Amino acid sequence: MANLRKFSSLGLLALLALAGCRQDMHDQPRFKPLAMSDFYTDLRSARPPVEGTVARGELHENAYFYTGKVGNNPGNYMPFPVTQDVLGRGEQRFNIYCAPCHSRLGDGNGMIVQRGFKQPPSYHIERLEKAPLGYFFDVMTNGFGAMPAYAEQIPEHDRWCIVAYIRALQLSQNATAADLPEGQKVPSEPPQFRGISGSGATAPEVVTNPQSNEGEQPK
Ligand code: HEC
Repeated sequence: MANLRKFSSLGLLALLALAGCRQDMHDQPRFKPLAMSDFYTDLRSARPPVEGTVARGELHENAYFYTGKVGNNPGNYMPFPVTQDVLGRGEQRFNIYCAPCHSRLGDGNGMIVQRGFKQPPSYHIERLEKAPLGYFFDVMTNGFGAMPAYAEQIPEHDRWCIVAYIRALQLSQNATAADLPEGQKVPSEPPQFRGISGSGATAPEVVTNPQSNEGEQPK
C-alpha cells in the first residue's frame, strides 16, 4: 500500500512536469511575423535572404533563353529547335497577343491600330527582316516605344515560339517554289493584292493574273 502511494506521487510529479512543457509550447520564444526585434541592428525580426540567394526554379542559367542577348547584343539563333509544334504554338500565341495591333499578316494594320492606336512598322520592311531573332524576343520582353512589354503575359518559351513564327511570316512574303520541298505544288509567285494587303480582320482582295492561274487563291 505504501509502495503504491509512493508510485502515484511520482506519477503526479511527472504529470506536473509534462504540463510545464505544454505551457512552454503555448508561449514560445519566437517572433510573431514582422514583429520588431532589438536583437538586429535594423530592428527587423524578418531577415532578408542572404545575398545571392536564388529562389527555387529561378536559377536562370541559360541567360540567352531569358534575354535573347549575347552580352549586350541580340543573338540570332533559337535557344531550342524549331519544330512544327513550336511554329503552331507561335502562330496561336501571335494571333492572340500581337495580331490585335500588328495584324495576322504582321503588316502593322491590326484592329487596335484601325481604332486609332499608334501604327507599328510592318515586319516586312528591310530593317525588321534583317533584325536578329533575339531582337524580337527583347521587344516582347521589355516593350518598345508605345508598345507595352509582354513578359508578364507570355512566358519565355512562348515568346520564343512567337519569334520563330514571326520569322516564318517574314519568309512567307518572298517565298518561291524553290523554297518548297520537292513535289509540292503551290503558286510560285506571291498573290497580288488590290490596295493594302488586308488587315488580318478582313480578307485581302486578290488580283487574278489573266495569263496564268498562279496567284489566284482557292475559292
Ligand atoms: C497594343 C498594340 C500592340 C501589341 C498588342 C503588340 N505591339 Fe508590337 N508594336 C506596337 C507599336 C505601336 C509599335 C511601334 C512602337 C513605337 O515605335 O513607338 C510596335 C513595335 C513592334 C516591333 C518593332 C520594333 C522596331 O524595331 O521598330 C516588334 C518587333 C513588335 N512590335 C513585336 C510585337 C510582338 C511580337 C507582339 C506580341 C507579343 C506585339 N508586338 C504586340 C504595338 C503593339
